[in-house]
Amino acid sequence: MMSFDFDRVIEQRNTHSQKWDSVQSRLGLSGPDILPMWVADMDFQAPAAVSETLHRMANHGVFGYFGEDGEFKRAFCDWMRNRHQFEIDPDWIVNIHGVVAGLGFALQSFSEPGDGVVVFSPVYHAFGSTIRAAGRNLIESPLKIVQGRYEMDLELLDSQIDERTKIMVLCSPHNPGGRVWSRQELIDICKFCESRDLLLISDEIHQDLVFEGHKHCVTANAYPAIADRLITLTAATKTFNVAASLTGHAIISDARLRDTFSNALRGAGSASPNRVGIEMVTAAYAHGADWLDALLPYIQANRDRFEEAVTRSIPGIRSMRLEATYLAWLDFSETGYSIEEATDRVQEIARIAVNKGLSFGKGGENWLRFNIACPRATLEEAISRLQTAFAK
Ligand SMILES: Cc1ncc(COP(=O)(O)O)c(C=O)c1O
Repeated sequence: MMSFDFDRVIEQRNTHSQKWDSVQSRLGLSGPDILPMWVADMDFQAPAAVSETLHRMANHGVFGYFGEDGEFKRAFCDWMRNRHQFEIDPDWIVNIHGVVAGLGFALQSFSEPGDGVVVFSPVYHAFGSTIRAAGRNLIESPLKIVQGRYEMDLELLDSQIDERTKIMVLCSPHNPGGRVWSRQELIDICKFCESRDLLLISDEIHQDLVFEGHKHCVTANAYPAIADRLITLTAATKTFNVAASLTGHAIISDARLRDTFSNALRGAGSASPNRVGIEMVTAAYAHGADWLDALLPYIQANRDRFEEAVTRSIPGIRSMRLEATYLAWLDFSETGYSIEEATDRVQEIARIAVNKGLSFGKGGENWLRFNIACPRATLEEAISRLQTAFAK
C-alpha cells in the first residue's frame, strides 16, 4: 500500500476555511490559540489525484460550463458497487450542489409548507434548520441510548406523527454518535415508512467512514421494495475531505420521483453541476481508495486514543463509542459540571472550538461534539488542554 502522511500539521488559518477562519464570526471565540474541532471536515490533504486534477485544470486555464458526465458516472457507480455492493443505473444519479441542497429540493418537491418531517434526534443540525426554513413542521423523535449506543424508538415515533407527516429524514450512519444502523434496523425503518405512507430521504454521506467491525448497509439494498419512496443522498465530500467541491449526488431509482426532483432543480436554475466539483470528486472516486484505506485506521486510532484519554481525565464523562464518522460525542451529564460550565472549560479554558449538543436537537442537551479528524499531534494537544481545563 502507498504511504500517506496524516501526521503532517497543515496551517489553515487565513485560507477561508470555515473551521479555522469562522470561529469568531460563528462561535464568538477569538485568538490565535483556538483549536477548532467543530465543522465536519478533516485537517488532512485530500487524495493527491484531486490536487493533480485541479492543477491540470488550472494549467489548461479555460473554465467553461460542465458537460459529458460519463467519466464521473463510471467512477461513482464503480465506487458504490465496490464499496457498498450497490449497483446503480447511471440514469438514477442526479448531481446536486451538496447533500443539504438535495434535502432542500426534496422537501420542496415532496411536501407542502406545514407538512410534518421526521428526524431522529439528536441529529446533524442542518436537517432541522433546513426543514424549519422550508416552513415544514420538524418532528424530532428522540433516539434511545441502549447499552451505550443509539437506537430508534419506532413506537414512540408512531405516537408523534399524523396524516400531515410526509417525510422521514434518516442519517445513516448517524451523526452525531456514529451509529451504523444494522440491516434489520433499516428494514424496520423502511417498513415503517411504507405503512405510514412516508417518503424516506436517506442521507448516507458518512457511508465510507466506518470502523473495523462495522459495515454500512445502503438503505436501498436493505429493503429494495422501498425504491418507490426512497431518495438516497450521498457525496464524496466527507469521505475524501473535499467539501469545497460543493457537490453531492441524489440516487433515485424511481423515475417518477426522479423527474419531480430533477424538475425542482431545473425550476431553481440549479440543474447544472459545478464543473470544478465534479472533476474533484471524479478523481477522488477513481483514485482515492488507497488513501481512504490508509486514513480509516488512522482515524480509528484517534478515536481510541481520544476516548481513552478523556474518560481517564474527566471523571463521569461518557464517550459514545463511534462505529463511524470522526465526530466524537461526549456526554457531560455525570461529570458534576453543568453543560454551560463544561462548555466554558472546553472553549474558554482549553480553547477548543466544538459543536454544542443542543444544536443537534432533543437529546443533545448535555453533549459536546469534537471533530477528531486531525493529525495525532493536534489530537494530543487537545487532550492535554482538556486535562488541564478539567483538573480539579
Ligand atoms: C449527515 C450530514 N449530511 C450532510 C452534511 C453536509 O453535506 P453537504 O456539505 O454535501 O451539504 C453533513 C456535514 O457535516 C452531515 O454530517
